[in-house]
Amino acid sequence: MHKPPSTGSVSSASPADLAALRLVHYPHPVLRRRAAEVTVFDDRLAALCARMFELMDEERGIGLAAPQVGVSLRIFVTDHAKREQGAPPSRRIWINPVIENPQGETVYEEGCLSFPGIYAKVRRFDRFTIRWQDLDGEEHRESLDVSAGQFLGIVVQHELDHLDGILFVDHLNPLQLRLVRRKLRELEDAYRRATGTAGCPIRR
Ligand code: NI
Repeated sequence: MHKPPSTGSVSSASPADLAALRLVHYPHPVLRRRAAEVTVFDDRLAALCARMFELMDEERGIGLAAPQVGVSLRIFVTDHAKREQGAPPSRRIWINPVIENPQGETVYEEGCLSFPGIYAKVRRFDRFTIRWQDLDGEEHRESLDVSAGQFLGIVVQHELDHLDGILFVDHLNPLQLRLVRRKLRELEDAYRRATGTAGCPIRR
């Protein structure tokens, strides 16, 4: 028998003890799933986001999506000013985010907490509007412009991809992919040793 699909609540999509959540690495299959919309805005949702910030901080990340901790819900957290010394805190929570009216093009070197040690230049939109909900379910909308200095625009595009099962290595051309292939194989081998299964490795 299969478990019924997620109802969009943290309780149905994560373990009872959120402290047990850990980062998952490529090629874990949860990273390839389309995450479910959040429909229940409760204390468990806030607790999940707090746990995500903890895990992101431990790894000095600037963005983390719920599938990266094994929870297939449309949530990510960001702290984009972390890399700027003395910058004010910029912790933000994005629930059910949608990008609208994307324009232009920009290239940025990206990494991902699910791919330790791998970095590559990725092509992204330069300007767009993003709408999302906060912990209370309130809707928000903001325009971001990367070439005007809003690095957050890169972070949210990378994290939103995670909610659709898309990983930054999917954006690489064949040459770029060849350059990171050995490190991808190392992650695939580590996953196989840890789980006895192949997971979802890249097939190109
Ligand atoms: Ni990532």
